[in-house]
Amino acid sequence: MWARLEEIVRDKTKRRCIRELLERVLDQYGERIRSYPAAVEIHHNYAGGFLEHVVSMSEAVLHYSARFPALDIDLLIAGAVLHDIGKLEELSGPVGPTYTTVGNLIGHVVIGRDILREVASGIPDFPPTLLMLLEHMILSHQGQLEWGSPKRPKIPESIVLHFVDDLDAKLNRALRIIDNSSSQGDFTERDYHLGRPMFQGDYDDQPQESPPNPTEPLSAEQFEDPGPEERGGKGQSFLFEPQG
Ligand SMILES: [Fe+2]
Ligand SMILES: [Fe+2]
Repeated sequence: MWARLEEIVRDKTKRRCIRELLERVLDQYGERIRSYPAAVEIHHNYAGGFLEHVVSMSEAVLHYSARFPALDIDLLIAGAVLHDIGKLEELSGPVGPTYTTVGNLIGHVVIGRDILREVASGIPDFPPTLLMLLEHMILSHQGQLEWGSPKRPKIPESIVLHFVDDLDAKLNRALRIIDNSSSQGDFTERDYHLGRPMFQGDYDDQPQESPPNPTEPLSAEQFEDPGPEERGGKGQSFLFEPQG
C-alpha cells in the first residue's frame, strides 16, 4: 500500500511543486503514516488504518478526476494525502491511541494546516495561491462548521474530498461492525456512531429445497430512534470524534 501511495504521488501529480511537497511529507512522516490508525474509535482505528484510509481516498479521487476532467488532480491528490496529516500529532501512537495534549487543544484540522505551511515553506517559490487552496482543502474537509471544519468546502475539489472522506470512513465502519457482529439475527447491534444497526442477512434467496434461515425479530432498542444527535443529524458529524 505504501508503494502505491508513492506511485500515485510520483506518477499522477502534474505540478513539480506539489510532487515535491508530498514527497517531503512522505519522507518526514513515512513511519507514522504507515503505522498509525486514522482515528481513536470511529473508522480505521487500528495500526495501519491511516495508510489504508489515505490510499483508499487517493484511489477514489483518481476516479473522480477521470470522471470530471475539469477538477484539479493535484489538489485532489494532495487533499487525500494531507487532509488528516494532523492526526499524526493529534493521536498518541499506533496502538491504543489517545488524544495528545496538542490534539485536544488544537485538533488535527489546524495541526494539519500548520504541517502543510511548514513543509511548503522549505520549497523555494511555492505558489501562494496554490498553498492557500491546499490549506482550504485541509480546513474544509470535515464539511460543516459544526463538524469541526473552520470553513465549508468552497471549491469543487474540496467538495469531492469531503464526501470521499465521509464515504470511506462510513464504509469502513459499516463493514467492520458487520464483520465483528455478535448478533445472531438479520441485523447487527445498533452502532453508536452510525446511529443504526446494519443488515447482515443473506443478499441472495435460499434455494427452494433449503429451509429458510430462522431470523430473530428485531429488538425494540435496535430500531429505537436515538434522536437527532446520535442519528448523525444536525450538530453531529460522523467524522468529528467528540473529545473529552
Ligand atoms: Fe479529518
Ligand atoms: Fe479522513
